[in-house]
Amino acid sequence: MLVAAAEMLKKAKEGKYAVGQFNINNLEWTKAVLQTAEELKAPVILGVSEGAGKYMCGFKTVTEMVKAMDESLGITVPVALHLDHGTYDGCKKCVEAGFTSIMFDGSHYPIEENIEKTKELVALAHDNGMSIEAEVGSIGGEEDGVVGMGEVADPAECKMIADLGIDFLAAGIGNIHGVYPPNWKGLDFDALAKIQQAADGMPLVLHGGTGIPADMIKKAISLGVSKINVNTECQLSFAAATRKYIEEGKDKQGKGFDPRKLLAPGVEAIKATVKEKMELFGCVGKA
Ligand code: G3H
Ligand code: ZN
Repeated sequence: MLVAAAEMLKKAKEGKYAVGQFNINNLEWTKAVLQTAEELKAPVILGVSEGAGKYMCGFKTVTEMVKAMDESLGITVPVALHLDHGTYDGCKKCVEAGFTSIMFDGSHYPIEENIEKTKELVALAHDNGMSIEAEVGSIGGEEDGVVGMGEVADPAECKMIADLGIDFLAAGIGNIHGVYPPNWKGLDFDALAKIQQAADGMPLVLHGGTGIPADMIKKAISLGVSKINVNTECQLSFAAATRKYIEEGKDKQGKGFDPRKLLAPGVEAIKATVKEKMELFGCVGKA
């Protein structure tokens, strides 16, 4: 069932758990995430970056694939189709393409411009029955061409953006996209507590969910994080399982060439990663 994400995150916030956003890249990725969510009876958010949207032949193709798959797999859990780190133009394209949720990442603009653009997109999203996420501060590292400086969000700016009527807020708290370096200082929980107060009960989003230790995830949820984004970790598990299958196949005179068989171990690996995250986030059985 394709839905906006506002309701599922409101429930998550009240129930003190987080809903996972898992980024998708193709049919196999989408199927793996949807089947795991259904099996675990967990609400789920499918994240689509602008790069992944382009790779999948445009947002319209993504919407049609997700809708058709949701139906053919008989998915009963709530599923949001969400633009991840969207530009102003990308958000508009996803509204037209039939996504159910968008993220406008205006964190690299001066705050006045971030406010102005977010405000316009809030009205557009809500007029179309969609939910909208906005970002303040920035997530460090790089994801699909989006580079962030890892700037901790200013609570006063968070309040200004939250007051525009967005549905959930991404705030930089020392989190980083991709694999965390060994000298990473961890999440800034003092900043998170101040942001939670400033944003006055709004569900918060933790980006860069790959490799954050379980105790930090739990603490973040207790401080108002209701959506956690995971991308790289699924890519790493997919790549490792696929590599292993191909390496092992070398002994079989290259017989493993059926694409469905080649991709199967990678798909199983994505499912295992999604399951592990859903159990950690506490969203299993919450659909
Ligand atoms: O927007 C998506 C994420 O923040 C994912 O971050 O690739 O570090 O898991 P990650
Ligand atoms: Zn992100």
